[in-house]
Amino acid sequence: MLEELYQLEAKAKNELEAITDVEGLEAWRLAYFGKKGALTMLLRGIGKLPAEERPQAGNIANQVKSALEAAFEQRQEAVRRAALAEELAQGAMDVRLPGRPPSLGYLHISTQTLREIYDIFARLGFHVFRSREVEDDVTNFQMLNLPPDHPARDMWSTFYTTEPGVLLRTHTSPGQIHAMRKYHPEPFRVILPGKCYRYEQVSTRHEHMFFQVEGLAIGKHITMADLKGVLESFARQMFGANRRLRFRPSYFPFTEPSAEADMDCILCGGEGCQICKQTGWLEILGCGMVHPQVLRNGGYDPDEYSGFAFGMGPERIAMLKHGITDIRYFFANDLRFLQQFP
Ligand code: PHE
Repeated sequence: MLEELYQLEAKAKNELEAITDVEGLEAWRLAYFGKKGALTMLLRGIGKLPAEERPQAGNIANQVKSALEAAFEQRQEAVRRAALAEELAQGAMDVRLPGRPPSLGYLHISTQTLREIYDIFARLGFHVFRSREVEDDVTNFQMLNLPPDHPARDMWSTFYTTEPGVLLRTHTSPGQIHAMRKYHPEPFRVILPGKCYRYEQVSTRHEHMFFQVEGLAIGKHITMADLKGVLESFARQMFGANRRLRFRPSYFPFTEPSAEADMDCILCGGEGCQICKQTGWLEILGCGMVHPQVLRNGGYDPDEYSGFAFGMGPERIAMLKHGITDIRYFFANDLRFLQQFP
């Protein structure tokens, strides 16, 4: 009996080792633990043994039984793991994500407009001349015929620093003085772009910080016709080949004569609409012939030299070009606005 039990244990363990699937496990379980399984039959046989052999045989039989049960569980676990590993290997999915594309930024609409303006004037022979945003009263005003108590200072009121006579420039015109002093006595053509500041009641058309692009051409026989030709060429390259300009007399202390240039309305073509307030014209810039005293302040002799100057607001230009209705959008940093100009 004991011999049989040990043999059965060895055989059962051997068979178990070879099993690799669930069906094999079930067959093995039935073969040993089933109603007519080998172990079940052996256990039943113990009752028929002589009484003195029964305890020992019972003891061993229980040991064999629990050893086989433990072996079965172990094998079951191994088979389960192998099956899982195989399933994973077969149904393996590619868990690599494609790379995240870096989101590329783009230029602010003001910068885009400025660069368009630079391109057009570059073709007309103007190069970019940069000058300071923090100016002194003398260059921002006095050199441009705006002495301390000049009434026209009102429309160019600005932010002052704690340093007396030092302020944030209200227009790019003081750059005229810097450029002339750098280039005299040569003729030259420059545009002067940059930020300007004003003490303003902020509205849809006015901000306390904005860009300007100044233009300045100095030479020996420069006339108002040159000014008109250059500005007309600019308007046509910026807004379309059929654009027309008109010049209205105006006043700036640093130009004489002075004018304001209007362009026929890009929306209605001159018929009159809401954008042009029924006039058919849109104001785009101020301009004029450089005042003799300003030429002198820059180092040029007005009997020999003349020049023209103009100043435009690129935000205004962009507003007309893209139908933007409020200048405050430019510096409000609202992505809903900025993303419309990729
Ligand atoms: N500086 C003037 C302004 O800010 C514009 C201008 C520039 C006018 C050059 C004439 C000549 O309004």
